[in-house]
Amino acid sequence: MESSLPSTQILDSGESAERKNEAKNYNEMMSTLPKAKGLRGNDYYLYQGFWYSSFFLEGLMSVQEHFNPQSTDIFVASSPKTGTTWLKALAFAVLTRSRLSGSTTSSLLIKMPHDCVPFLEFQVAQNPRIRDLAVPLLSTHVPYSCLPKSIISSSCKIIYICRDAKDTFVSLWCFFSAHQMSKNVEPLPLEEAFEMFCNGISILGPYWDHVLGYWRASLEFPEKILFLTYEEMKKDTAAHAKKLAEFMDCSFTLEEEEEGEVQKIISMCSFEKLSRLEVNKNGKLHLDTSIAIQNSLYFRKGEIGDWANHLTPEMGARIDDIMEQKLKGSGLKLPR
Ligand code: A3P
Repeated sequence: MESSLPSTQILDSGESAERKNEAKNYNEMMSTLPKAKGLRGNDYYLYQGFWYSSFFLEGLMSVQEHFNPQSTDIFVASSPKTGTTWLKALAFAVLTRSRLSGSTTSSLLIKMPHDCVPFLEFQVAQNPRIRDLAVPLLSTHVPYSCLPKSIISSSCKIIYICRDAKDTFVSLWCFFSAHQMSKNVEPLPLEEAFEMFCNGISILGPYWDHVLGYWRASLEFPEKILFLTYEEMKKDTAAHAKKLAEFMDCSFTLEEEEEGEVQKIISMCSFEKLSRLEVNKNGKLHLDTSIAIQNSLYFRKGEIGDWANHLTPEMGARIDDIMEQKLKGSGLKLPR
């Protein structure tokens, strides 16, 4: 397998030799991992208890080895399709609102949220200099137990979002199917993808283990990890915007609240607003030099309960049963 090590960076010869060596070690290690067929027809690899695509895994291993956070960094963490894009927009808008007197907040109008808050294992792994050090926000899909040790042992804060497993699965399947169809490739049948998901094989799956990792960490380090759900954030977005502000040490002042600042941020980050922006309708997200995804795929419906339009009641009950069984004894009950 070909390695796609950073092409955007200029490496000196020492660095370049080290990277070549890493690519060799990476390829050797990959060949030893258990494999399964993924949602795009590609291979998934089981690494440290979770399923990764090769592209993802390479980024992860690179950051596990090299990444050092700033002590003030805040990470938006999630399993894919649980509301990452929305949470990034909200966290970015809340954090940058006063410091940069509106100018950075408005970059949400011209940049996709994933470009405002870059992914650790994609954009940052490809090019560490991509990040804007003045905005201490990064994001990750990496499970808690696989995060670089430098993050776990730091004082960095983490905001985690998760979502009902049925809606997450349907959102995942729709996303990958649409991506495949945009390349004229037949998507994996829903029933096949469903079976895989129930067996724990999905990108960054098992889904329940991803959720439980951050849940348990949030119980152990409540001051460091804020655990949110998509459904609760939908139900009361204002309370969540304020909670985010408080957690990121930039609470809204009384004056800001009276001036409607919270509502302005909520409107700006709403599905209706973001999905209609030119950048999100027609732009592309470049996760690396070879992968470009249409931004519009990150804005599908933004609704709770859409699973019922794709899964039978039996399929829904099967996921609910699995989740109930897996979360048993953890104290966590996800809203449905
Ligand atoms: P659906 O596919 O159910 O519509 P992620 O950002 O983690 O990839 O998750 C994508 C899901 O979040 C999609 O769900 C998408 O429509 C929804 N979403 C994106 N932006 C949103 C927003 N501003 N508000 C609410 N939901 C949003």
